[in-house]
Amino acid sequence: MNNKPIIALDFPGEKEVFEFLNHFDEPLFVKIGMELYMQEGPDIVKKVKDQGHNIFLDLKLHDIPNTVKSAMKGLARLGVDLVNVHAAGGRAMMEGALEGLEAGTAAGKERAALIAVTQLTSTTEQQMQEEQKIILSLQQSVLHYAQVTKQAGLNGVVCSVHEARAIREACGEDFLRVTPGIRMLGGQAHDQKRIATPDGAKQDGSSLIVVGRAITGAANPVVAYQEVCQLWEEK
Ligand code: C5P
Repeated sequence: MNNKPIIALDFPGEKEVFEFLNHFDEPLFVKIGMELYMQEGPDIVKKVKDQGHNIFLDLKLHDIPNTVKSAMKGLARLGVDLVNVHAAGGRAMMEGALEGLEAGTAAGKERAALIAVTQLTSTTEQQMQEEQKIILSLQQSVLHYAQVTKQAGLNGVVCSVHEARAIREACGEDFLRVTPGIRMLGGQAHDQKRIATPDGAKQDGSSLIVVGRAITGAANPVVAYQEVCQLWEEK
């Protein structure tokens, strides 16, 4: 798997996706999330993959272990590079996800990397404590989820940049820290609460960054992508 910045294709449908992708003349690493997948189904994954792009299929599965295992078996057949579950689903669910993914990966093909969402980057510590009744700091909760994820045998976690360094220290360099909430200096935060720039993310221990609106909402997405790549690669 390469470590190019992952562009979140948060578009309502196929038409907008290809209008966007047609601006680029190089293979990208893109993220297909719920918004697009729920509209277009697995076909959109196949079509984007046919254009030579790497895919992070961000469906954040969270259900009983057997259901997640079966769903992952199906997703593995799509041949994507990276998939995820919610760590809050528990260790047995994460182990089930891994088993399903292995079972569904065609012989001779590389299994997709599997990561777990810790706390959404849109969640604040106050929200987490009041609504989830987790009596820890946000950082402690994220670190705990990362450790359970590692014990379950997964490849890494989705976390904010602010927790990436502590996770690297606790779980090792090879354990992926995939960080959304990336913004350019002076850019709008939108609904994200814990944000960082691409170079800040690298310095603080991210292994992969996910960038959505800072690229997809830019007047010139190709230039915005190049700026993100430059900051990400320089550090
Ligand atoms: O537009 P923006 O850069 O905020 O997009 C971030 C992307 O990362 C969105 O697709 C969002 O669903 C996703 N994501 C996130 N926080 C997580 C996991 C995924 O923002 N913890």
